[in-house]
Amino acid sequence: MNLLAIETSCDETSAAVIRDGAVISNVVSSQMDMHSEYGGVVPELAAREHLKNLQPVIDKSLVEAGIKSTDLDAVAATRGPGLPSALRAGFGVAQGFAYALGVPFYGINHHEAHLYSPWIAGDPLSADFENMPANISLIVSGGHTMIVHVKGSLQHEILGGTVDDAAGECFDKTAKLIGLPYPGGPEMDRLAAEGDPLKYPFPRPMLKDPNYDFSFSGLKTSVRYHLEKHPEILEDGQSIRDLCASVQWAIVEVLCKKVMRAVRKMGVTCVTASGGVTCNRGLRAELQRECEKRGVSLRLAEPKLCTDNAAMIGILAAEKIKAGAEPTPHDVEAHPGWALSG
Ligand code: KG4
Ligand code: ZN
Repeated sequence: MNLLAIETSCDETSAAVIRDGAVISNVVSSQMDMHSEYGGVVPELAAREHLKNLQPVIDKSLVEAGIKSTDLDAVAATRGPGLPSALRAGFGVAQGFAYALGVPFYGINHHEAHLYSPWIAGDPLSADFENMPANISLIVSGGHTMIVHVKGSLQHEILGGTVDDAAGECFDKTAKLIGLPYPGGPEMDRLAAEGDPLKYPFPRPMLKDPNYDFSFSGLKTSVRYHLEKHPEILEDGQSIRDLCASVQWAIVEVLCKKVMRAVRKMGVTCVTASGGVTCNRGLRAELQRECEKRGVSLRLAEPKLCTDNAAMIGILAAEKIKAGAEPTPHDVEAHPGWALSG
């Protein structure tokens, strides 16, 4: 069975072909350079770029898979959550494509796809859903921060999430205060490697609250106040590195402590993570350290699958089809605010 998957929830235009549960092609066209000029993703520009890129990206994914559109048996696309105009671009094209080909269409939840992306591995890439242990899954990116208890294939319970900014957003916004280019996360990671994480004791928002929720907007505000009081920090290279390390550690510590609390409470022996912030070396190292300490296995999404991609949308769609999911009716629209339920 050949399935075409499309993802356009934010600033990546991506198309993938999944054949019998394996990723045969996964083409990702990033708009990062265009948005970095504006210091963040501009939704209307993202939608316009998606519309421009969708056809070539789909064509490339079909060519790389060695098939024609008429060989497709199903089409899937991210239905939500995401930027409304960006989502609608990919969802509408995918829906129209399925309709024209007369094949079933599946609208997929972007967060649900992230949950399984750490399990996509091997050559060709595929996910062994049957042998996946129950796990605590951390989704951390510019748009999302969530802790989910994945009990098995297509079974999950959301434990918590951010009440304001996402972790990646916090990296990007504090990086902007420091004067780093967008997206600030990777640059902050680089500078933090040579800084002292204990130099500036920024608050650990909601760390003590007995839940799995996060709040990162206060952290950004306290960095701003600190810099207003001590502008000299920005004139000294080492102080900037210390500041980056301290901000990073404040984010990483809260994320890891809450993940490990969920591990203990739910009695699982496996942690997974996906989303752009999973590339952060401080987060990876701390998750590794905490998991090793507790004899818990850690599974991080492959770097190319950490950021948004259609492969994870297609892999989840294929698993849903295998489990007997009904196609999404052709008159259903994209759902930008579609919160993951469960
Ligand atoms: O998953 P992603 O590509 O897009 C969405 O937001 O959906 O994630 C991008 C986010 C940005 O906020 C970026 O700064 C952050 O991930 N990021 C990082 C690192 N690499 C990417 N944050 C911290 N350290 C990194 N190494
Ligand atoms: Zn995402």
